[in-house]
Amino acid sequence: MQDFINEYNNVSAEKKLHLLIEFGASISGEVRLDKLLDSIAKQVTKILDVGRCAIYLKDVEKKELYSTITKGKGLEHTEIRVPLSANNIIATVANTGQTINLPNAYDDPRFSLEVDMVTDFRTHSFLAVPLKNNTGKVFGVFQVSNKSDGTPFDQNDEGILNLLATLASRAIDVAKLYQDVHVAQLETIYRLAVTAEYRDQQDTRAHLKNISIISYLLALALGMRRKDAELIKNASPLHDIGKVALSDTILLKPGKLTPEEFEKMKMHTIYGGRILQGAHSKVLKIARKMSLYHHEKWNGMGYPEGLKGDEIPVEARIITVADVFDALCVVRVYKKAWKTDEAYEYILGEAGKSFDPTIVQAFKKIYPSVRKLYSHLPVNQPDGVPEGQPEPLAQQSTPEPLMPQNIPEPVNTSQENGIDLENKQIDL
Ligand code: C2E
Ligand code: SIN
Ligand code: SIN
Ligand code: FE
Repeated sequence: MQDFINEYNNVSAEKKLHLLIEFGASISGEVRLDKLLDSIAKQVTKILDVGRCAIYLKDVEKKELYSTITKGKGLEHTEIRVPLSANNIIATVANTGQTINLPNAYDDPRFSLEVDMVTDFRTHSFLAVPLKNNTGKVFGVFQVSNKSDGTPFDQNDEGILNLLATLASRAIDVAKLYQDVHVAQLETIYRLAVTAEYRDQQDTRAHLKNISIISYLLALALGMRRKDAELIKNASPLHDIGKVALSDTILLKPGKLTPEEFEKMKMHTIYGGRILQGAHSKVLKIARKMSLYHHEKWNGMGYPEGLKGDEIPVEARIITVADVFDALCVVRVYKKAWKTDEAYEYILGEAGKSFDPTIVQAFKKIYPSVRKLYSHLPVNQPDGVPEGQPEPLAQQSTPEPLMPQNIPEPVNTSQENGIDLENKQIDL
């Protein structure tokens, strides 16, 4: 910091302060890594007045540097990956922690022309500095090119970029930590959910994923903000977590449950509510409402509390549509799979009875996407068998409860509706 101020005498103290405050304010408090990197890159492009700016982070597992955030001509949304073992500039900065300043990049044999070639950009001046964490370890590279006045980067520019890199490093470090915790939290949720479901599901992962996707699409179709829809998507796999407390004799009973058994089964909502009682995170609070209330009905005839209409939390009114639809579409120990279109008709018929009519309307809107998720199921094929595949065992009239079904991954419909259905952080 002192070096930078000493070096940068020709700029007024007031201006320096302004520059730093603006940068600091724009990045502080942003814990979402992608948003943070984007904001840093925007600011740096402005402050240094350059044609291009990129932030590379180390991917330790893959031994690569990757840049998802790049600002400048031809670079939006371009992910660049560089092996750490490469002999180019970016890898050299990452490996040595040096600052590299090239008046004319093409004169340096280490400079890789690849990025310019694919993005139709001509790099002239080039400056790269390391991003270091608070123990001095390099975790990335901060790179700018082409000062708009056409001159090479000078010592002042190096000073500024190093200072900005220092400020940015703290924020990036914190954001990475948050992201790791978030990913760990989602992973834990899925592991818990799989534990709860694997006993009575033919294909737990497909079931959880489909319910997640349907809930997410419903939330978006209802006009919820993407952030809230994502919380619903991430919480939804936990809705039946209370089933962990049910015995196999009930959960895996091949036939119809007696009234006494059904009373015990109903307790899975209460158990789920208890398991998630007192949770602090947003996602687990939503999961608690879903667990406790996903068998409530719009007309008040559901359980455990017999809540009616708007008394039922909206998250539960959403998951119940997704849950019943999916339960109908697949094989259970106690029932055969329905054709997807029959399940759809059932959902429509339950508007105002089991389900919130507004949510049934939303389901109508998203049904073309939902239908695709289930189109590969044997029950939807004209002859009951998917093309080119042998008849799965699960199609037999008395299916084995734990027989895994040979179901391919659900179709990603994101292309059609522009919605990111794949939860990139979760490998379901
Ligand atoms: P699940 O199998 O995940 O089913 C969730 C919900 O989907 C059911 O909630 C019900 O609303 C709907 N559903 C599933 N299959 C059918 C069906 O064939 N017809 C109709 N109209 N709706 C269906 P519900 O009824 O409160 O049941 C909760 C859970 O209790 C079920 O979860 C399942 O694990 C268990 N269960 C329900 N009925 C039986 C049964 O007859 N035998 C056995 N072994 N378990 C049952
Ligand atoms: C390099 O690593 O040689 C430069 C790649 C770039 O243009 O960012
Ligand atoms: C609860 O979560 O117990 C209250 C129900 C609600 O949020 O409406
Ligand atoms: Fe349930």
